[in-house]
This record gives sequence, C-alpha cells and structure tokens, in this order.
Amino acid sequence: MEPHPVAIITGASQGIGKACAIGISQAGYRPVLVARTESKLRAVANEIEARLTTGEIQKPIVYPLDVTDYAKVQQFVAEIDNQFGRVDLLVNNAGILRRGTLDVSVSDFEQIIKTNLVSPFVLLKELVPLMKKRGKGHIFNIASRGGKTGFAGEGAYDASKFGIVGLSESLYRELAREGISVTAICPGWVNTEMAQQGGATLSGEEMIQPEDILKTIQWVLELAPNTCVREVVIEPTRSIV
Ligand SMILES: NC(=O)c1ccc[n+]([C@@H]2O[C@H](COP(=O)([O-])OP(=O)(O)OC[C@H]3O[C@@H](n4cnc5c(N)ncnc54)[C@H](OP(=O)(O)O)[C@@H]3O)[C@@H](O)[C@H]2O)c1
Repeated sequence: MEPHPVAIITGASQGIGKACAIGISQAGYRPVLVARTESKLRAVANEIEARLTTGEIQKPIVYPLDVTDYAKVQQFVAEIDNQFGRVDLLVNNAGILRRGTLDVSVSDFEQIIKTNLVSPFVLLKELVPLMKKRGKGHIFNIASRGGKTGFAGEGAYDASKFGIVGLSESLYRELAREGISVTAICPGWVNTEMAQQGGATLSGEEMIQPEDILKTIQWVLELAPNTCVREVVIEPTRSIV
C-alpha cells in the first residue's frame, strides 16, 4: 500500500494554518504542524486526533520551530525526509504583521522580511529538492492582498508579501516541468488574531474566514495534475463594494 502523503503546514498553531491543518488532515495527508508555541500546536493536534474516527486520518506530527532559525529549519526538513522520505504538500503560511512604513524601525523591518520572506525561501530551498526527487508536489505560499497592492501604513509588511509573490511566480514557472505546482494565495483581511490585532476595519463576519483559504487549497488540489494555478486573490466583499 502506498504510504500516506505528508503535508507540512507552518503557522499551524492558530488562524489560517490551523484551519488548513485540520482540513488537510481530513483529506488523508499526515500533517506536520509547525509553529513556535508547542502548547498551541498540541491543542491543534488533539483536535485533529479527536476526529480520528477512521483509519484515513493520520496522527499529526507536532514540530515546534521558529522558522527564522534557518539551521533548525534545515534540521527539520532532514528529519522529515529521514522519517517519511517524502513531502507532498507545503503550506508556507507562518507570518507576522507589523503596521507601518518608514516609521518602522530597521530591526522591525528586518524581522518582518526575515519571517515573511527569507524563512519561506529557506523552507522552499530545503523542500523542493525532495519534491523534485519524487517528481510531484504542491506548494501554497500564503501571501496577501498587500502583496499585490501597496497599502498606506503597511509598507514593511507589503514589501515582504510582494517578495513572496515574486518568488512564488518564479517557482511556478520553474517547477511546473518537474511536476510541482506552486500557488500564491493573496487574501485581504482574514478573520484571525492577526487581523483582530492588526487594525482591520471589518467585523469578523465581514472578513474572509480561515476555512475559505482551506477551501481554496482543496479546490486547487482537486484539479487535474496537468493544471497549475499561479495565484488566487481573494477579497472580503465589503472591501470592494
Ligand atoms: N489574517 C489576515 O488578514 C491575513 C491576510 C492576508 C494574509 N495573511 C497571511 O496569512 C498567514 C497566516 O496568518 P494568520 O492570519 O493565520 O495569523 P496568526 O493568527 O497571527 O497566525 C500566525 C501563525 O504564524 C506562526 N508564526 C509566526 N511567526 C513564526 C515564526 N517565527 N516561526 C514559526 N511560526 C511562526 C504563529 O505561531 P507561533 O506564534 O506559535 O509561532 C501562528 O501559528 C500569514 O503569513 C499572514 O501574513 C493573513
């Protein structure tokens, strides 16, 4: 029997990553949950395990990790490779939001770029060779609407998200011939702690829900293997009317 596919979800302790981890595990993937806060990751893993009603759902792997610690990211990928010999799906989602443009300190700017752009790059650098070896894989880079349009008062964050959109598009073109599809997802406000603390002007109900990001991923995964979706831009209806 073919072993279960493996899915790595970063930022899986809450918000979008949590919703994706739960949904992806129900699709038969073994989820590898990554974030810094182990207690929150364990709570998500417990929630997934509580749904282990059939043999189809695989026990999650909890892997506490600061994605800005590049040496540990390399060690993490090596361990997953040793244990499973495959990674089928990556949701490159861990990220931070700090508001501001030129009023952001240089060290905060660096921290935003490090977390939202360099860390996903390092993970891709380590994981793509594993996907190439097997000639297949799906990568979802969670960017932002702020990666398509620079908004006033969030230049630092938007710079990081424009960066991940560019990286994603290059890889989309480079990796298609290797059987690996790369999709950037660019949502407006999503109803998570990040939006609640980040000054969103919409109510929770008016925002995109984390499950809508999961559904977008599920939709792309269901398409025929000879299709690639470069980018999905999603806006809360209230943002455009
Ligand atoms: N919410 C929105 O409106 C919105 C809109 C567009 C795009 N996005 C993007 O969607 C992604 C997820 O956002 P969210 O709304 O779900 O935010 P969230 O609720 O704040 O969750 C962020 C996740 O990232 C993890 N994380 C942050 N820094 C990390 C680090 N250094 N190492 C490992 N994990 C780290 C956090 O876990 P720990 O703190 O435990 O490490 C948490 O699991 C982000 O990339 C964000 O930029 C969000």
